[in-house]
Amino acid sequence: MVATEEHLSYVTQINDEIDAAAKQRGTGIARRTDEYIADKIKSGKAIIAVNRNEFVGFCYIESWGHDEFVANSGLIVRPQYRGMGVAKRIKQAAFDLSRKRFPNAKLFGLTTGEAVMRINTELGYEPVTFAKLTDDERFWAGCQSCVNYDVLQRTNMTKCLCTGMIYDPAKVAARKEAAKAAAKKEGWFSRLFGK
Ligand SMILES: CC(C)(COP(=O)(O)OP(=O)(O)OC[C@H]1O[C@@H](n2cnc3c(N)ncnc32)[C@H](O)[C@@H]1OP(=O)(O)O)[C@@H](O)C(=O)NCCC(=O)NCCS
Repeated sequence: MVATEEHLSYVTQINDEIDAAAKQRGTGIARRTDEYIADKIKSGKAIIAVNRNEFVGFCYIESWGHDEFVANSGLIVRPQYRGMGVAKRIKQAAFDLSRKRFPNAKLFGLTTGEAVMRINTELGYEPVTFAKLTDDERFWAGCQSCVNYDVLQRTNMTKCLCTGMIYDPAKVAARKEAAKAAAKKEGWFSRLFGK
């Protein structure tokens, strides 16, 4: 569900879980401040999963490059709830929220994780080079605390260990139209030649 002010009490726990997971994966992602996570919640840009009163999972969205791009970030599922499809549901909710609030934006993310790649692919994202992602310097500044930042610098911000994935609504709509036209053509041929 979209997080509301009643979920502000989970902020420190959310941050602790993100921190612990980053340490375990060996990525040096800097801890976001509690104020930053709270701000995401207050501005209706966060998705939270709760089981009774127990925190289960979280992620937030942010727009970049004058709302031309929207990224999903901070995805976390508590270890005891992993492997049950929670991340899939959180990402679907974040996707729906992004599409609702920024209908014309391209959605994107950076990840080294197979789970996120799988989920993104199912949502209609495709892998792209970094050149296709936002050039908003504020977004890329977030990579500075990653242990692999030297790789990004060495390649002049064109490549790193993360895979960039993007969902481009205009492209998806064009693809749907093309598929519809192809199906129509197929039906027409079948009727004409009885195949
Ligand atoms: C990554 C993470 C969010 C996945 O959460 P989850 O609730 O276990 O994921 P789901 O159960 O929804 O699984 C989604 C898909 O990923 C697959 N998957 C889950 N964990 C995986 C793993 N460790 N390796 C490979 N695939 C995995 C699942 O099989 C499923 O694929 P399918 O639909 O093709 O079967 C969770 O492990 C986590 O919080 N990790 C630490 C933080 C992190 O890595 N965040 C992502 C930063 S980009």
